[in-house]
Amino acid sequence: MRILAVSGSLRAGSHNTGLLRAAADAAPAGVEVDLFDPAGIADLPLYDQDLDAGGDVPTSVTRLREAWAAADAILFATPEFNGSVPGGLKNAVDWASRPRLEAALTGKTVAVVGASPGQFGAMWAQADLRKILGIAGARVVGDELPVTRVHEKLAADGRLLDAELAERLRILLGTLAAEAAPVSAAA
Ligand SMILES: Cc1cc2nc3c(=O)[nH]c(=O)nc-3n(C[C@H](O)[C@H](O)[C@H](O)COP(=O)(O)O)c2cc1C
Repeated sequence: MRILAVSGSLRAGSHNTGLLRAAADAAPAGVEVDLFDPAGIADLPLYDQDLDAGGDVPTSVTRLREAWAAADAILFATPEFNGSVPGGLKNAVDWASRPRLEAALTGKTVAVVGASPGQFGAMWAQADLRKILGIAGARVVGDELPVTRVHEKLAADGRLLDAELAERLRILLGTLAAEAAPVSAAA
């Protein structure tokens, strides 16, 4: 079972990307978590239906679509920007939601987590991302996981300092893998 981990943050020192690295360490047996390179989101053009309809989409779009389609499931970690999902991540979801019936996100089993240094753990961004992914055609599973005061829970070397958070990540990955198993076996 191969789960692709997609961070909505582009910055090198991202807490959300760090959270996904920690999730990879916390994964249950039989579940492999691969981090999607954030450059794969940064390199995308803004979604343009004319560009998409031409049939000759940019290489960055093809790469993203192929990588997301090939995963058994996807775990997203989103920061919150002004109360919602960062624009780059929304743009990536838009590209991965087309062409509608054969899109990378159509029927894909996904889960969402999010982290912030503040008191709310990107909870509005998570709620919006779950809504957006569902409308895009994905199957959103598992509970929200708002990671508050994330800077106190992740060490500089990437280790998780919070045992309860490690356990919640392990459980969420287990749920994601179990929900994805029948779907990816049938595909
Ligand atoms: C443009 C911008 C808007 C932000 N808006 C919010 C917000 O609405 N709510 C919040 O909790 N944090 C907000 N923040 C702070 C982010 O949660 C914080 O920078 C976080 O570390 C970003 O995630 P990352 O570490 O994965 O890059 C904002 C940061 C930026 C740069």
